Amino acid sequence: MYKHNKKVFEERREIFLDKLGGRAAIIPGANLVKHHADCEYPFRQDSNFWYLTGFDEPDAIALFLSHKPKGERFILFVSPRDVISEVWHGFRWGLEGAEKEFMADKAHSKNELRDLLPGYINGVDELVFSIGKHPFIEKIVLETFSQQLENRSRLGIGANSIKSPEIYLNEMRLIKSDFEIKRMREAIQISAEAHELVRESISYKKNERQIQGIIEGFFLEKGARGPAYNSIVASGDNACILHYTSNNSPLNQGDLLLVDAGCSLADYYNGDITRTIPIGGKFSNEQKIIYEIVLNAQKTAIKSAVTGSNSNSVHNVALRILIEGLKEIGLLSGSTEGIIENHSYKHLYMHRTGHWLGLDVHDVGAYRMGDYEVPLQNGMILTVEPGIYISDRIPVPDGQPNIDEKWKGIGIRIEDDVLIKDKSPEVLSFAALKEISDLEF
Ligand code: GLY
Ligand code: MN
Ligand code: MN
Repeated sequence: MYKHNKKVFEERREIFLDKLGGRAAIIPGANLVKHHADCEYPFRQDSNFWYLTGFDEPDAIALFLSHKPKGERFILFVSPRDVISEVWHGFRWGLEGAEKEFMADKAHSKNELRDLLPGYINGVDELVFSIGKHPFIEKIVLETFSQQLENRSRLGIGANSIKSPEIYLNEMRLIKSDFEIKRMREAIQISAEAHELVRESISYKKNERQIQGIIEGFFLEKGARGPAYNSIVASGDNACILHYTSNNSPLNQGDLLLVDAGCSLADYYNGDITRTIPIGGKFSNEQKIIYEIVLNAQKTAIKSAVTGSNSNSVHNVALRILIEGLKEIGLLSGSTEGIIENHSYKHLYMHRTGHWLGLDVHDVGAYRMGDYEVPLQNGMILTVEPGIYISDRIPVPDGQPNIDEKWKGIGIRIEDDVLIKDKSPEVLSFAALKEISDLEF
């Protein structure tokens, strides 16, 4: 059962306030999103707001006032307690809870933001707010900012620019603390166990939707909120559609099943794992050949994910092995350098090999800054997920071999979640097996 850990959030706020260096940040939480008629999607808190507050209600706004003395720096605007609303929609912490449980120096009703914001930011030169992401609050922030510009021109005091909070928060979130690594281990372990459950039950399940049910039912049983993203349960040729989420085809004995699924915990930490398994328990020759190429690329790329390297190098390690393997079986031809330079592998491998993973599945943090590749550092979590997808959806590039029918309909991806740890990357998703001998029955 998830319990709010005040200390964790307090420490993050202190670091963030320190980085703000005299600026005032306005960080809105998420709002409910309509699904249809008067029904809403399940609430999903904004990751930056969550990271700094741990407050899980809609429509809240946090102010971080680094120009103020300690004890006046963290302000929450929340929905006040309301008996009737709580009877319909559930418990709210209200202003008192925001101060006691979530350690706000002061809490107000969310409806007071417009009136109180000018006073709170009085005297700062620069505001910190993410433009273009929070339409309801942005209107208030820009109105206030415009007033500040006016003040500045007349009185010489007032904010004269707006900076993005991502500059500070992405950097913080990219490196996971020990607490976060522990939670990531838990999210990834549940996700890995769900993949094992799929493998154990595949022989008597008849369609993709039932497999989705097994995975997501397991997530809920283990106390997760549910899937971190729309689960991809793709059999046969469906696996060549990278973000296939229809999950409504029957399973055929001779096909492979690609499952890309991970859970999201109560505090939004996510797993992201892909396994590709033979539905009937045995790989065909062609399936096995492609699987071995992808597995070799993946394992070698994981080994290369060490401090000082970077995500682009990890991608290139995988890419070269995929290309060499595809050349050997006649699906690509020419020099590996030439194939990379001309992108003439992209009808068979059309995505990057990995991304940061954390509170967002495609987590925040730069991969490169201009020409400079961001080096891998301890505490980063990177997915490593090469694949090969053989279909005739994308035309074969000029000069590359036509694809023999026997390969078509094979789509394979293998994805693990890797913690960067000096020279020994740790595969957090190890519990989801991936060797051919593990997958055949
Ligand atoms: N499941 C989304 C991804 O692998 O990036
Ligand atoms: Mn991924
Ligand atoms: Mn994935």
